[in-house]
Amino acid sequence: MFIAANWKMNLNKKQIQEYIVHLENFQFNDRVKACIFPSFIFIDYLSSLILDKSISLGSQNCHFETNGAFTGDISPYSLKQYGCEYVILGHSERREQYNENNNFIKKCAHSAIDAGLMPIICVGESIEIRNSGNAINFIKSQIDECLPENCKDIYIAYEPMWSIGTGIMPNNNEIEEIHSLIKNEAVKKNIDTIKVLYGGSVKPDNAEKIMSIDNVDGTLIGGASLNVKDFLAIYVAAVKQLNVIS
Ligand code: PGA
Repeated sequence: MFIAANWKMNLNKKQIQEYIVHLENFQFNDRVKACIFPSFIFIDYLSSLILDKSISLGSQNCHFETNGAFTGDISPYSLKQYGCEYVILGHSERREQYNENNNFIKKCAHSAIDAGLMPIICVGESIEIRNSGNAINFIKSQIDECLPENCKDIYIAYEPMWSIGTGIMPNNNEIEEIHSLIKNEAVKKNIDTIKVLYGGSVKPDNAEKIMSIDNVDGTLIGGASLNVKDFLAIYVAAVKQLNVIS
């Protein structure tokens, strides 16, 4: 299981320090990985705070070029140098607000892999697409167009746009349907290992239910990850779920 905290453009230096203090005596489980995605500016600071902890570090985005004239962007190689292991790509906020399309996301994923980072590619339909009955075809084409050729292992986050920050969620069958579709599409592309995370309004009170759904390999958490107690409660729900399975 993989529990990702997408802090987006939130938390200042003092708040990050207080957050990590709360993790001091927490026992992380070998089978459930926790990963935090702070904003670029705090990657180095967070890295220094979690040195002795079983927490991984990730970035919320990267560029596809190694270096060059790309004002305001960041190279996957710089992220790697600063201890990042994962990078979120194609979050719907990037797709909507910065017009990042499938082709751009694929190029970023390709270069993230070359730099030694694991991409977490976000896919998910709008409410209009869901209501028109086209969610399956839409996700299929996102997967088809975003997955780079050089990938053996990949993470995909299924985040229905209408569920992000709204408190509204697909039902269990709808989540299962899309997650198994994503896994089937990845098999067609000869990918060895694919993990599919669910994201959108994940909270402590629904986390156990979400993680009991077949083909859910973890969660990508936005709002609830800003509160360390909520984040840990979701983490504990993942550990409980593993104990149920084994
Ligand atoms: P949310 O956000 O948990 O606040 O719905 C999820 C995300 O945007 O990754």
